[in-house]
Amino acid sequence: MNIDVLNKTATEIVANGRGILAADESTGTIEKRFKAIGVENTEANRRDYRELMFTAPKVEKFISGVILYDETIRQKSAKGVALPEILVKRGIIPGIKVDKGVVDMPLCPGEKFTEGLDGLGKRLDEYRALGARFAKWRAVITIGRSLPTHVGVHAAAEGLACYAAICQEHDVVPIVEPEVLMDGDHTIEGERCFEVTESVLRRVFDSLHQHRVALEGILLKPNMVIAGQSCRKQASVEEVAAQTLRCFRRVVPAAVPGIVFLSGGQSDEAATAHLGAMNRLGKHPWPLSYSYGRALQHAPQHAWKGKAANVAAAQKAFLKRAKCNSAAALGKYTEAMEKELVTA
Ligand code: 13P
Repeated sequence: MNIDVLNKTATEIVANGRGILAADESTGTIEKRFKAIGVENTEANRRDYRELMFTAPKVEKFISGVILYDETIRQKSAKGVALPEILVKRGIIPGIKVDKGVVDMPLCPGEKFTEGLDGLGKRLDEYRALGARFAKWRAVITIGRSLPTHVGVHAAAEGLACYAAICQEHDVVPIVEPEVLMDGDHTIEGERCFEVTESVLRRVFDSLHQHRVALEGILLKPNMVIAGQSCRKQASVEEVAAQTLRCFRRVVPAAVPGIVFLSGGQSDEAATAHLGAMNRLGKHPWPLSYSYGRALQHAPQHAWKGKAANVAAAQKAFLKRAKCNSAAALGKYTEAMEKELVTA
């Protein structure tokens, strides 16, 4: 493990208000997104869509890294250039999703278990040769009446820590993603999301320590502390920012080079506003940036709709979300930016 290389990569990803585009939807997940815009889920359409984002003018000002899916890291553009090479030429670091998705956890109704550790070292060697310098593994935690259980959280933390150790041994920065889902009707005041997020993060950092993972060479990709998606009383932007920071200050060591949030089903503008509010609250022990999937892609997908004639409009829609989120990462986002025309 070369900790200097890992730390340099992690630090570069979160520097100067840049953040990550999570474009690593599995073939099944992208099918759902394509269905919503009436696009057939073919390899060519997936390639055209990803190429559109990776070649969008000026996005390298706001996007430092892209998480790719196994198919995408091997694909070539319409002109025959490898997609990771297009990113590298623009100063954008390619990353790779290495988990193999979640399955129901045996004997633990309602809980999920992430697969993908078998053969991971070999796969990382191949991904590195294809250009990946960081990786992602997502563990899923559900809030429910009697969930999560101790064993569910333990399994999630151990899986993340094993993955992170293997990545570091292969000089790939692990993005550690313990996602507490937004599903549920809990309020923010009841502190369910706060409590669960705090205890999950405690377990995760404990496991990372036991597995000898160097915190200076990881990035944390967490959920925000937020009311459940079906709760009628949604918290204010300021409340989400304050509670999320209160939680992280307790449990995220200052050695972590950066926190890159997931959007988790928040609307595009809410995900941006929450990040902006946190960064307006002053200097924190870690840069706070983004690793959004849906909150960066919803707008371009709906502008594109699978039509070549819409590519420029889709690229503009993507540029706008990237620009707004980058401003949020710098604490400079204002609602007025949503009405401005984007010229980057
Ligand atoms: P969302 O921002 O859509 O939650 O996706 C981020 C991600 O990479 C989930 O693993």
